[in-house]
Amino acid sequence: MSKRDELFNPLDPEVIRDPYPTYRRLRETDPVYWHEQLGAWILTRHADCTHALKNPDLFTTDFRKVGVPTPGPLLSLQTLDPPDQTPLRHFAIDAMRAQDFGELERDAWQRAEALLHELRSRGTFDFVHDFATPFTLGTISRLVGMPPPEADEEWRRRNDQLHRSMDAGLDPDSEEAGLAAREAFSDYVARWLAGEPTQGISAYVADNRSQLDYSDEVLCNSLRAFWHAGFEVPARFLGNAVTTLLRHPELLEATLEDVDTAVEELVRFSGPVHVVSRMCTKNTELGGREISRGDLVVTVLAAANRDPERFDRPEELDLTRHPNPHLGFGRGTHSCLGNAVARIEGRVVLTTLFRAYPDVRLAGELQWWENATLRGLSQMPVSLGRVSATIG
Ligand code: HEM
Repeated sequence: MSKRDELFNPLDPEVIRDPYPTYRRLRETDPVYWHEQLGAWILTRHADCTHALKNPDLFTTDFRKVGVPTPGPLLSLQTLDPPDQTPLRHFAIDAMRAQDFGELERDAWQRAEALLHELRSRGTFDFVHDFATPFTLGTISRLVGMPPPEADEEWRRRNDQLHRSMDAGLDPDSEEAGLAAREAFSDYVARWLAGEPTQGISAYVADNRSQLDYSDEVLCNSLRAFWHAGFEVPARFLGNAVTTLLRHPELLEATLEDVDTAVEELVRFSGPVHVVSRMCTKNTELGGREISRGDLVVTVLAAANRDPERFDRPEELDLTRHPNPHLGFGRGTHSCLGNAVARIEGRVVLTTLFRAYPDVRLAGELQWWENATLRGLSQMPVSLGRVSATIG
């Protein structure tokens, strides 16, 4: 690592434990920072990140536009930009609108209550592994209309490989296994569509596929990306959010008073998606720096979300904050397609957990994944304690 990169070493154990002081230093001293090892510009201001995300003509996710090939398993609505992406993105939005979100939420309440009730008898359990992951897998499975996968050894290995490869810029060795994992998951999704699904998003896709002029590969990869983002990201979010609240027990009452506003602030304050990348298509200027065609640009959403130019008291967790123009769900043509689902999950889990188990607490040491892209806990021991007397 070059001397200059000492300003930002994303995998330094201290930064993994708490990256926010580093983000702050970057934003204050060099907000459009050239990172030698990554060969990328690191953006930490809200205005610069928003500009990059809202101008796909200039900052693209389709790296082929600057001559960088996109491996087959990565081709999806995430790596196409308008106009190529537009029909697929609209199709995905229509597929979501066709779902019964009231029913999805009712089911989520029941599953959250039942799973927590079962885990209470264990004493201490891992909140992310034992609760948030099966819970979010249950939600996304219902939404896509397919049973949850069997979480066996093979599944865990593939999922770890995909997770690690999100940091392929820092760890190039992880790239190949990540592509193989994506391919395996896309095959899994292709089998749903071949099986004539009758429910959820998969049924919508199978029934309306003829409207779309995309290859099977792009279609299956897009559904895979939707499905995978649909459990991995909110599971991390729930772990981060509950940890944040358990470190601020004085704020639990405010959480329950207006849980939707609290969820928004938790996405801002401790959201899981820390960075997303784009590639510059034309020489341009950004924040006083010359960015060249072909340069990689990394928008640090988690840094932008604490930019004092955009938020009053940005380092303070204010569960009543409104408006809250955070970038935790992204912006523009790639903004999160599942934000409504994530919001339901946040509402359901925080309400159920803190109403039913007023003594819930962290019950051991926390460990963060060594991942600079998606922030979350690899170890989060929790115990629920007594059940509230007001819960039936
Ligand atoms: C708290 C939970 C979540 C957070 C913080 C989150 C965050 C994000 C962010 C920041 C992006 C933008 C990526 C970019 O610009 O490159 C994104 C995209 C996406 N998210 Fe989420 N997400 C969450 C939950 C979900 C869920 C539950 C689903 C599915 C049900 C989902 C599906 C997607 C998809 C498909 C995209 C890609 C959209 C596109 O490229 O057009 N996400 N998400």
